[in-house]
Amino acid sequence: MAIRIIVKEPDEVLHKRAKEVTKITPNVQKLLDDMADTMYDADGVGLAAPQVGILKRLIVVDAGDENGLIKMINPEIIESEGEQFGPEGCLSIPGWNGDVRRAEKVTVKGLDRDGNEIVVTGTGLLARAFQHEIDHLNGVLFTDIAERVYEYTPEPPRSELENR
Ligand code: NI
Repeated sequence: MAIRIIVKEPDEVLHKRAKEVTKITPNVQKLLDDMADTMYDADGVGLAAPQVGILKRLIVVDAGDENGLIKMINPEIIESEGEQFGPEGCLSIPGWNGDVRRAEKVTVKGLDRDGNEIVVTGTGLLARAFQHEIDHLNGVLFTDIAERVYEYTPEPPRSELENR
């Protein structure tokens, strides 16, 4: 397992369509593991393979809910319902957020790390993460679909607030 370098805008790899994975090799499995390490290291809730420079249809997500870490190969949204609208960011576009309209609930089908078919239904943040990461596989960034994009200023750490 290793932490990979996250590709940032305006790298063109982020704007290309990723290819289906036809064979699950040890390399593909290692890539999924590395992507999870890289996501956690960067405090993200999701990461797609193009963000580490590889045009394969692989995503990892962890919305901090009971579903835990999900590693998915060739993910596909098979059902979506409802609507949510709110701020979204991306590890490839540090310092920026955007208000993005998404489905509130999605069901995603794909293969797990061992090639077994899995179907996961997520709501709220997990649904948003799935839609965001699957967009990455199609070369779509949140800035392409956001209704408003704005600079993101992280909240100062607590100690700093208390010293004010
Ligand atoms: Ni992203």
